[in-house]
Amino acid sequence: MGELVRTGISLEEGLLARFDEVIAAKGYQNRSEAVRDLIRDHLVNEEVEANKEVFGTLTIMYDHHQAGLSEKLIAAQHRAGSRVLATTHVHLDHHNCLEVLIMHGSSESVRDLANGILTLRGVKHGKLVVTSVAAGHE
Ligand code: NI
Repeated sequence: MGELVRTGISLEEGLLARFDEVIAAKGYQNRSEAVRDLIRDHLVNEEVEANKEVFGTLTIMYDHHQAGLSEKLIAAQHRAGSRVLATTHVHLDHHNCLEVLIMHGSSESVRDLANGILTLRGVKHGKLVVTSVAAGHE
């Protein structure tokens, strides 16, 4: 962890008041930690836009009775090879399965893989979350 540096910024009173309300509601203990998180999020977004190396978790919920879907999901993951690091599967009820895929690669390749899965018929809901070690450099 690098040395802490103090900095100051100027902004409108109302904007700061609204920010303080939002971060307090989220449970932040102080403004500095909230600002650090915003900066880290910005750095991750920059990595994503520059097609840098990222890690992604794709959470999907699907009906395993949908014809051919389980086979398509497995085929998509095999085609992706080492881009899929791990998967976890939970049987939610008689029809529905929850699956989490942990992926690694260029941001475009991770996004394309996620979109290929999210758009399969029978995948009812899902979301990709991307992070990067850029957020961890201190
Ligand atoms: Ni299942």
